[in-house]
Amino acid sequence: MCTHDYILSGKNITRVFGQGKNKVVAVDNVSFSFTRGEIISIVGESGSGKTTLAKILLGLLKQSDGDIFYCGKKLNLKERRSRREYWSEVQAVFQDPFSSFNMFYKVETLLRNCLKLRKNKLSKEEQVAAVKDACKSVNLEYEELYDKHPFELSGGQMQRLMIARTFLIRPRVLIADEPTSMIDACSRASILDMLLKLRDENNTTIIFITHDVGLAYYVSNTIYIMEKGRIIERGTADEIILNPKENYTQQLLKDVPKIYESWDLA
Ligand SMILES: Nc1ncnc2c1ncn2[C@@H]1O[C@H](COP(=O)(O)OP(=O)(O)O)[C@@H](O)[C@H]1O
Ligand SMILES: [Mg+2]
Repeated sequence: MCTHDYILSGKNITRVFGQGKNKVVAVDNVSFSFTRGEIISIVGESGSGKTTLAKILLGLLKQSDGDIFYCGKKLNLKERRSRREYWSEVQAVFQDPFSSFNMFYKVETLLRNCLKLRKNKLSKEEQVAAVKDACKSVNLEYEELYDKHPFELSGGQMQRLMIARTFLIRPRVLIADEPTSMIDACSRASILDMLLKLRDENNTTIIFITHDVGLAYYVSNTIYIMEKGRIIERGTADEIILNPKENYTQQLLKDVPKIYESWDLA
């Protein structure tokens, strides 16, 4: 159990791709601290470094410089065992669901495998019940899908499947990179509400990565604005949305004519 003030933080994180004239500083000297149960949005245009940062936080990509701290301790994922432990607590829902599943497994196995990451073991019946329950929470028809492979599902179904996985794993930190980009507006709102429920029930820290300012305002406690790899502004949702200081943030807001319009809360 983590009692440290900050569950996840980063100090001076930089990630460079390529060399010479192909050099891209995707993440540029970024620092942050997230508390337990906090909902954070990281907002920025396409190409601002959001996904790179998410992958670094997950240990899927190594930073060129800087350190990540999980529950106060410097993150070290060299050993398989520590990666497994970390990924039982820090989970992701990705923009591109096609890259997130082992395509050789069927849906039933993919979901049941998540339960192996949980610390308390369940009986076979309990596992099946938990899997069905998770599907129900994301409006997936378990009976229809359990015998299928991920590539037989639609993009939206795959995103739901990823979110169902999160419900099964109950991570301490959830990193959601454009998690509902393939889901229609109406179910999007309900899935977001479900993710918020995950926070309420488990005190999960949720990091939403998005270019959608309306979404960020609706869900978050804290907003970080990213531009060209840097965090240029951060504050409470109200501070950032109602009183943005940076030009770039003001521009992002201009692109959303009315905060709620972009995302049909009706
Ligand atoms: N594997 C990679 N190799 C080279 N450049 C990359 C790689 N991944 C990302 N980049 C570059 O890093 C920058 C940030 O990309 P990304 O993190 O995907 O931004 P975002 O998620 O905000 O759209 C972009 O210029 C992108 O082209
Ligand atoms: Mg991205």
